[in-house]
Amino acid sequence: MKINHYINYLALSLFLSTFLPTYLFAQTYGQNGMVVSDHYLASEVGVEILKKGGNAIDATVATAFALAVTHPEAGNIGGGGFIVYMKSDGDVTTFDFREKAPLAASPTMFLGEDGKIKDNSNHRGLLSVGVPGTVAGLYQAHQKYGKLPWKDLVEPAIQLAKKGFPMSWGLYKAALRMSEGDESWDIMKDYFRNADGEVVSPGEIWKQAALAKTLEEIKKHGRDGFYKGKVAAEIEAYMKANGGIITQEDLAKYEAVERKPVTTKFKEFEIFSMPPPSSGGVALIEMMNLLEAADISSVEFNSTAYVHLVAEAMRRAFADRAEFLGDPDFNPEMPVDKLISKDFAKARFENLDLKHASKSDSSKYGQLYGGDHTTHFSVVDKDGNAISMTYTLENSYGVKMGSSKLGFIFNNEMGDFNPIPGVTTSTGLIGSDPNLVAPEKRMLSSMTPTIVSKDGKPYLVIGSPGGRTIINTVFQTVLNVLVYDMRIDRAIEAMKIHHQWLPDQILYERNLLSPDTRKALEEMGHTLRPTTNIGVLMGITYDPNLKVYMGAADSSSEDGAARGY
Ligand code: DON
Repeated sequence: MKINHYINYLALSLFLSTFLPTYLFAQTYGQNGMVVSDHYLASEVGVEILKKGGNAIDATVATAFALAVTHPEAGNIGGGGFIVYMKSDGDVTTFDFREKAPLAASPTMFLGEDGKIKDNSNHRGLLSVGVPGTVAGLYQAHQKYGKLPWKDLVEPAIQLAKKGFPMSWGLYKAALRMSEGDESWDIMKDYFRNADGEVVSPGEIWKQAALAKTLEEIKKHGRDGFYKGKVAAEIEAYMKANGGIITQEDLAKYEAVERKPVTTKFKEFEIFSMPPPSSGGVALIEMMNLLEAADISSVEFNSTAYVHLVAEAMRRAFADRAEFLGDPDFNPEMPVDKLISKDFAKARFENLDLKHASKSDSSKYGQLYGGDHTTHFSVVDKDGNAISMTYTLENSYGVKMGSSKLGFIFNNEMGDFNPIPGVTTSTGLIGSDPNLVAPEKRMLSSMTPTIVSKDGKPYLVIGSPGGRTIINTVFQTVLNVLVYDMRIDRAIEAMKIHHQWLPDQILYERNLLSPDTRKALEEMGHTLRPTTNIGVLMGITYDPNLKVYMGAADSSSEDGAARGY
């Protein structure tokens, strides 16, 4: 290349990376702030709030409401989730707005006379709905730490619902599936249809008038706009008419809870993540400590030794998760401090055999995989406040039921409780006490919104959907950045595995783990199973030298995007 062409090329690259970063590169730069979410419009809403002087909490509230409109398979007001918030002074707190079991719930509520789960009722039908927490969580976080008025943060979502936005191909594929589904999916039948009764096609503007009205109530009345008044009355009426048990009393009693994060030191970093009722942070920290004890830094990424060590850490953390974790308000004796301690990690790896796979004891604990029907987003602002937020409806489009007058879909999060007391099987059922159903109890989650800091400043903001795979997806991405020095987009795309104690097998991303490595692992006694894709990560890292944020959305997200400014 001639030198003047080269200079032109450099100038053009600089121009593009400065002014059009978000559209052209896998990794996006932002000096003043960044939002990375599962929908480009929601990321843009968040960045606009930052530009108007909002802080990371304000941008989080606006992005979360926008995702409830643009990414309804998981973005929600009918579900729940978690926020991990690192303030610019390095202090970290969390908000727990996990759904709760209704007052009329009981440990055997899903069982038939034969003692088995009746009609998949912990995931299907209105008994599977937990009392939603999202609006309460966002409101509480905003009341405590927000800067801009609440109404300004709900308004962008109202506009997206009222005026509509173009249907993408990704959403269209789901729209076709949802519009022709199971007969119980009442709200889904017309959810994606236009005035002519057709499923809105790609490129056509999709509007959600009923959801816009519900959001108006929330804009006007804050949390009371959802948990009291018209909306709460309609929720109760809809539940009563369709076999649900959530009442206005359940709604009025719902409270989000601010909790201390779980944390550990790893190399020169500090890791902060979500405590119970999520199992994510405890298991993540246990695994980081296990790998530190096994000197992971000396092991090459993607080698046989790497996969073996990572899988053995997962096996142990998932067994402990199943045995010990549940809602802290119902399990005061939960040994969280022990599980996240360095000494426990050392002892837990004492029986590690570097040459052979351990065996999961099928008389003990485990549980089924999840899909990718949760959504994570990451936010940073110009002052260095950072937010990692994951929220969910449990399955894709939750229970696929809801009042068409309200325009939002309910979760089926009750399925995250252990459904059959005392029954734990090698195929994946867990029956341990800490996570049995009880009135007003929160079901155990795997969501793992996480922030890593260096020198008291956010260094990595990360999270993912994926049910139980979430914990392992986040774990490996944290390793990729902290141990293997990968830039954020590469760390997100790199090969991931999943082991969860039971079933006793390593799930790996097809085409990303060499056949030679697989053979070597099988010879060590591991069972391997391919899968298409693990996780949908949304991450931000910070370069302290350049003083710039870098964000990336997982390429497996249909409409996801990082937006920086
Ligand atoms: O809270 C949890 O761990 C799950 N309800 C998350 C669900 C998910 O990621 C996708 N699931 N199938």
